[in-house]
Amino acid sequence: MSTDDQKRAAGEAAAELVQPGMVVGLGTGSTAAWFVRALAARRLDVRGVATSLATAELAASLGIALAELNDVEAIDLTVDGADEIGPGLALIKGGGAALLREKLVWEASRRCVVIADAAKRVRRLGAFPLPIEVVAFGHPSTARRLCDALAECDLTVAPRLRARGGVPVLTDQGNVIYDAPCGSIEDPAQLADALKSVTGVVDHGLFLDLADEALIGMESGVERLTP
Ligand code: 5RP
Repeated sequence: MSTDDQKRAAGEAAAELVQPGMVVGLGTGSTAAWFVRALAARRLDVRGVATSLATAELAASLGIALAELNDVEAIDLTVDGADEIGPGLALIKGGGAALLREKLVWEASRRCVVIADAAKRVRRLGAFPLPIEVVAFGHPSTARRLCDALAECDLTVAPRLRARGGVPVLTDQGNVIYDAPCGSIEDPAQLADALKSVTGVVDHGLFLDLADEALIGMESGVERLTP
């Protein structure tokens, strides 16, 4: 089974969790896209809250009705991908630069399901560089203070400004992303607090205590994990 087949299987399994009338958080990335396609194929009467402009565009093109986060009281179920899934379903997200909207949608949700291919499971978070969303104004100065915050957590690493074709990648909010190659994160909660204490940091890709379950596409089928 290819990685893409695993992502597809996880996305399709998650689409089966959706009930008519639900407000559904729609994640971002290639795995979440499989979920959006499978959901659209079920033709249920649901409203989707997209976590990025790219996902909103995909969902709209497939006929899923969309609502803004501002206009819903709560989200029944959010389904989204991840870059790493560690013990207790602690996650690294933000590879697609949508971490802020993703976290806002996850936190407004009654139930959050992470979907992924098998390679995303890790014993310890950190091999995937941790995305950190930073306000564009003064970002090099913020990045220097980020180094200090990382060092407080015994991580002597220099976050790298994410760029494509030599141009900084901007998020849907017009912020920039720094990727911190932590290697191994011993204490994700301590790191999360340290990063949030830096002025100019909007948010980071550590999603802790947010996922209620994971659906992982494997050779043998879709495995369900809980924290
Ligand atoms: C976007 C994300 C994605 O969920 C994450 O990058 C996984 O992407 P993919 O499903 O394409 O592997 O966090 O910000």
